[in-house]
Amino acid sequence: MHIGTTDLGLHPILLAPMEDVTDIGFRTLCRKMGASMVYSEFVSCDALTRLVKSTMLKLKVSPEERPVAIQIYGKDPSAMAEAAKIVEEASHPDIIDINFGCPVKKIAGKGAGAGLLQNIPLMLDIAKSVVNAVKTPVTAKTRLGWDSNQIIIPTLAEQLQDCGIQALTIHGRTRSQMYKGEADWNYIREVKSNPRITIPIIGNGDIDSPQKATNAFKNYLVDAIMVGRATFGRPWIFKEIHDELHPDTPIDTSNIVPSQYAPMTDNWKLDVLKEQVRLSIKRIDEYRGILHTRRHIAASPLFKGIPDFRQKRIDMLRATTQEELFRLMEETRPFLLHP
Ligand SMILES: Cc1cc2nc3c(=O)[nH]c(=O)nc-3n(C[C@H](O)[C@H](O)[C@H](O)COP(=O)(O)O)c2cc1C
Repeated sequence: MHIGTTDLGLHPILLAPMEDVTDIGFRTLCRKMGASMVYSEFVSCDALTRLVKSTMLKLKVSPEERPVAIQIYGKDPSAMAEAAKIVEEASHPDIIDINFGCPVKKIAGKGAGAGLLQNIPLMLDIAKSVVNAVKTPVTAKTRLGWDSNQIIIPTLAEQLQDCGIQALTIHGRTRSQMYKGEADWNYIREVKSNPRITIPIIGNGDIDSPQKATNAFKNYLVDAIMVGRATFGRPWIFKEIHDELHPDTPIDTSNIVPSQYAPMTDNWKLDVLKEQVRLSIKRIDEYRGILHTRRHIAASPLFKGIPDFRQKRIDMLRATTQEELFRLMEETRPFLLHP
């Protein structure tokens, strides 16, 4: 699959954009684990056009993580065009993605993100304006519609393609659903089966196993899949999926992290999480670096099934130094289920 000149190979697996999660360290780790392309968290157009320092830092990309997409959100076509130019200049990303799917009140309630599902003419103006402003391929990510009474994705996909959008990610939920219920992939297949649609369609929603990934390609016919929440505390999910899809060319994980253990064993996975903490600390500072990896440690399937883990988890989430956190993590080692 290609987006512009970026070749993502057959059956690409993409790391979803996630606020406060997909920073440069996590993105790089996921790429090494087999993600075909990674997305930044969404970056505010308003903050970009004001050149807010903390926002500009979000544009940093490393050569190791390419191909990388930077995602932007906003509701004003000319400001979005300006923001896209700033992103192009600062990051030289492989792709600029527009967020038309964020359901949270502070974004959608103000008319950006999924809020634009209630104002399609404005959404299309934004898409055209960004496409015309930059040389970088522009893609978009959206949902099925505002609610179950307004499923508009089959028409919307054509309209976005006509604006020059070069690939479309569809999260199989409506805005009203937020993250509840199950993603409905039937609408994604409907878009993909439309002979007028020539751009790649990326399916998103609830993929958390190689089986679901295989099913998405086989039965819903998508060109690529995007994985979000299932990567928390499990960056190796990309290898799990990749190796299932491409058994003849498995991802070589032998040198990704310093570890004496065999790749994909639980001991190795514990070393991966420790490396993630180290990378995060290196990027920010000890305290905030640890805060940033908490969500991963709290959610990691690695610790599931460890007897009396509850208190240990609370202690891990309270740890404020690398030494303390690593000591607590090491204490789980003798209890790992698949050492
Ligand atoms: C913590 C969190 C942050 C997210 N931030 C973004 C974002 O910045 N941009 C975006 O397009 N989607 C964002 N999403 C939505 C995901 O990209 C994805 O569409 C959604 O989680 C469904 O995929 P999944 O079932 O694989 O998690 C976020 C989701 C989560 C859980």
